[in-house]
Amino acid sequence: MSYSRIIGTGSYLPERVMTNQELERIVDTSDDWIQARTGIRERHIVADDENCGDLARKAALQALDAAGLTPEDIDLLVLATCTPDRVFPSTACLIQRELGMPAGSIAFDVSAACSGFIYALDVANRFIRTDGARRALVIGAEAFSRILNWEDRGTCVLFGDGAGAVVLEASDSPGVLSTHLHADGRQEELLYVPWGVGQGYDHLDSVSGKVSMRGNEVFKVAVRTLGRIVDETLGANGLERGDVDWLVPHQANIRIIAATAKALSLPMENVVVTVGEHGNTSAASIPLALDVAVRDGRIQRDQIVLMEAFGAGFTWGSALVRF
Ligand code: UT7
Repeated sequence: MSYSRIIGTGSYLPERVMTNQELERIVDTSDDWIQARTGIRERHIVADDENCGDLARKAALQALDAAGLTPEDIDLLVLATCTPDRVFPSTACLIQRELGMPAGSIAFDVSAACSGFIYALDVANRFIRTDGARRALVIGAEAFSRILNWEDRGTCVLFGDGAGAVVLEASDSPGVLSTHLHADGRQEELLYVPWGVGQGYDHLDSVSGKVSMRGNEVFKVAVRTLGRIVDETLGANGLERGDVDWLVPHQANIRIIAATAKALSLPMENVVVTVGEHGNTSAASIPLALDVAVRDGRIQRDQIVLMEAFGAGFTWGSALVRF
C-alpha cells in the first residue's frame, strides 16, 4: 500500500470584501461585538454571477500550479461543499469538465458542512492508499452567503465565501499520517438549513432555505468535541501535546480556536488564524488557511500539521499530516 502526500496547495477568495462596518448598516450589530465574540473583521462575498464551482476551479488551478501539474494529471476530484451549483450533476463533475480533466476520471461531491474538507481529504487518502487513484484534487469551496438570512444577526455576521484546494499524490513515505471522522445527527436542530430540494418547492419560503443556528449551544459542543478529537489524533500517532508544529483549524470563532490550541499546549504563534479576514467559510476554511500559511512560508516541508473541524450534522474530524 502506498501513502498519500500533499504536493501543492491553492486558494481563491471572491474580490468583494464585506466589513463589519457594512454589516452595522444591515443588522443590529457592531464591529466591537463581532470582533470580541468571533475575531472576525471582514469576509469575502461572491459576485452575482459567481458560484461555488468558479471559486473551486480557481483554487484548484493554483494548487495544480504549485504542484507543477496540469488537470490531465489528476484522476480523482473530491469537492467538499454545502452550497453546490446545481442539484445535479455534482459541482465536482462541472469542475472536472471545465478544468479539462480526463474523461472517465472520478469526480464527486462530499457533504459534511464545515467538516467537509476533512471528510474529502480522508476519502481521497483512502483512494490513493488502496490504489484507486494516484493523484487527487481535494477542494473545499462555498458560496455560503447564498444561504444566509441577512436579517438574522446571529448568523449573517459569521460566514463568508471562498475556496481552498490541495493536490494529493501517492508516495512511498507518509504524508497523511492519520484521519479521524465522526458524526452525530442527534442535535441537528442546533445548526441546520431547514429546507432541501427533496421537500419540494411548496415548502420553500424566504427563511426556510437559510442557515439557522443556536450559536451558543453549538459553541459549547464544538469546544468539548474538538478537545476530544485532539486527544484522539495525538493518541493514534503516539504523539504528546507540543509535538505538533502547526494547528490549522476550521475558522469558526477565534475563541474556539484558542481553546483547541490550549488543549494542544500550542502557543497561538503556531496556529494559523484567518478567521479575521475570511470569516467562517465552512468547508473552504481549512484548505484556505493551509494555503495562506504555506505561501507565506510559515508551514515548511516535513513539519507536522494538525487540521481539525466541527460543523453541522454534527460532523467533526481531524487529519494529521507530515507536510
Ligand atoms: O462552523 C460551524 C460551527 N459553528 C460554530 O462553531 C459557531 C459557534 N458559535 C459561536 O461562534 C458563538 O456562539 C457566536 C459567535 C455565534 C455567538 O457568541 P456568544 O458569545 O455565544 O453569544 P450569544 O449567542 O450567547 O449571545 C450573546 C448576546 C445575546 O444578547 P442577550 O441575550 O445577552 O441580550 C445575543 O442576542 O449577543 C447578542 N447577539 C449579538 N449582538 C450583536 C447575537 N448576535 C449578535 C450580533 N451583534 N451579531
